[in-house]
Amino acid sequence: MALLDKKKDLSFKKDGQIPKHIAIIMDGNGRWAKKRFMPRVYGHKEGMNTVKKIAIHAQEIGVKVLTLYAFSTENWKRPKDEVSYLMSLPVDFFDVFMGDLIKNNIRVMTIGWNEQLPEKTKDAVLQAVEKTKNNTGMILNFALNYGSRQEIVEMTRQVAQKVAAGEVSADEIDETFISQALFTNKLGPYHDPELIIRTSGEIRISNFLLWQIAYSEFYFTDVYWPDFTNATLESAIADYQDRNRRFGGL
Ligand code: IPE
Ligand code: IPE
Ligand code: MG
Repeated sequence: MALLDKKKDLSFKKDGQIPKHIAIIMDGNGRWAKKRFMPRVYGHKEGMNTVKKIAIHAQEIGVKVLTLYAFSTENWKRPKDEVSYLMSLPVDFFDVFMGDLIKNNIRVMTIGWNEQLPEKTKDAVLQAVEKTKNNTGMILNFALNYGSRQEIVEMTRQVAQKVAAGEVSADEIDETFISQALFTNKLGPYHDPELIIRTSGEIRISNFLLWQIAYSEFYFTDVYWPDFTNATLESAIADYQDRNRRFGGL
C-alpha cells in the first residue's frame, strides 16, 4: 500500500469521529507557484486564501482546534524578500478575514515567539487574538515563528529554574507537568492533535509539535497547500476514521 494518497475509497462520515484537534503543515506554496511560472510569493498569497476556506470548513464539521504551521523558526533562513512577504500575510489575512472570524465564532490563538516578529505582524496577530478572545467556537491556532525543539528547550529551562528556586520538586515533573509548560497548554483539553496532515508530498515533521504528536495519526498528501480543498480535508478525516488507534493496548 502506498503511503501517500491511498487509493482505498474511503468516504468521510459526517457523524463519525471528527478529530478535535487537527494540525496541518501547510507546505508546497512555492512549488505550486513555480509550476505556474509565477514567483514563490504568489503561492503564499494563494495559500492564505486556502487558510480562510479550510478554517471555515473545519469549524463547520466540528473541529475544535485547527493548528496551522505558518512559519517555522527555520524559515528565517529564506531570502529576505520572501520572509518580508510572509510576515506581511498575517496583516492582510486578519484585515480581510476578521469579519468572518467573528461571524463564525472562531477564536484566534498562536504558538511560537511573537516578540521576534516585525512590529506590524506582531500587532496584527495580537489584535486578532484580543478581538476574538470571547469567541467560543473553534480555535484557529497559528504556529508562527514556532519550532518544537526550541519550545522544549525553553520549557526545560523554565522548569529547571522553578526547581532551583524550590518552587517545584523534581518528583513533581511528570507528563502533565511537561504538557502544561508547552505553548500548546493554552489550547486547553485539546492540546495534542489527533490528526496531523502534511501537504506537498514531503514526508517529514520539520520541527513541528514533537512532544504533542506522540500518538497522533499522520496523513500525507501530494496536494500542494494552495490546491488543498474542503474535499482534501474530508479525505484526510475519512482516512483517520478508518484507523484503529490502540495507544499501545489491544
Ligand atoms: C509552505 O510552502 C509555506 C511556508 C513554509 C512558509 P513553502 O514555501 O515551503 O513551499 P515549497 O515547499 O517551497 O514548495
Ligand atoms: C515547514 O515547511 C514549515 C511550514 C510549513 C511553516 P518547510 O518547507 O519550511 O519545511 P522543509 O524545509 O521542507 O523541511
Ligand atoms: Mg516547503
